[in-house]
Amino acid sequence: MSLPAPADRSAAPQRAADAIRPVLGDARPKIAIVLGSGLGDLAAALEDARTLSYADVPGFPVSSVAGHAGKISAGKLAGVDALLLQGRAHVYEGVDADAIKTPIRALKLLGVDRLLLTNAAGSFHPSSDEGSLVSICDHIAWAGWSPLAGPNDDAWGPRFVALTDAYDPAMRAELAAHAGRLGIALPEGVYAWYLGPNFETPAEIRALRALGADVVGMSTVPEVIVARHCGLRVAVLSAITNLAAGMRKDQHLSHDHTQRVAKLCATNLRRLVTAALPDLVRA
Ligand code: HPA
Repeated sequence: MSLPAPADRSAAPQRAADAIRPVLGDARPKIAIVLGSGLGDLAAALEDARTLSYADVPGFPVSSVAGHAGKISAGKLAGVDALLLQGRAHVYEGVDADAIKTPIRALKLLGVDRLLLTNAAGSFHPSSDEGSLVSICDHIAWAGWSPLAGPNDDAWGPRFVALTDAYDPAMRAELAAHAGRLGIALPEGVYAWYLGPNFETPAEIRALRALGADVVGMSTVPEVIVARHCGLRVAVLSAITNLAAGMRKDQHLSHDHTQRVAKLCATNLRRLVTAALPDLVRA
């Protein structure tokens, strides 16, 4: 397989945006929400949904992972114009950086200026309930890879991008305030990005805990890096589907378990996101 020439690759977000534009109609959504494993239920709350399969959007990843529908929908959520993305590329699928960059940059071209990313994650805190939510305040890119490695396209962002406050303080404050009002526990935590697709070993979990992580998962961080590079504001909600490897003797980690428990988070995720959305787009 030969790779497209560099000029062609940087045109990929434009082609993707052109494919998506017709489903926007007259709407100009400022926010896009990416739904992680098992968290697709929020899509049912989208009113007047116009949906496109990722297969019809050039450069969008057709996921090989169960629980990732591979659809992008435009519509209104809690009265707010929004784009909902069900499905994402994971680096463990063997995708290259373009599979991460193209969707995020296409959103930017469509006028989106903030992203709410969701994922399923394992918790390092013995008191965490399965099915609870965590608002991510920082990350550790344990996988040691950046989607920005390689030549920099200055048209999108600077060669060296700062990730201080990558998780937008104003958006986090809105999420915290609405969670408090709704009686939904929403601790903040540091997300460790593990490449996968195997789960972590108990020794790796002990190492990550010692480094200061609170939760672990196999996604999201590459998207955050690309989004910050092109100036999108980002907030991330993790749905806790399990205690991390080695923390519970009776637990066997599996993707089935992740998807099943993620569904338990779906109700609170929907309540929180729909309540916070009008303020998230103003934050
Ligand atoms: N580790 C990595 N990814 C995950 C986990 C986990 O424990 N739970 C859900 N996604």
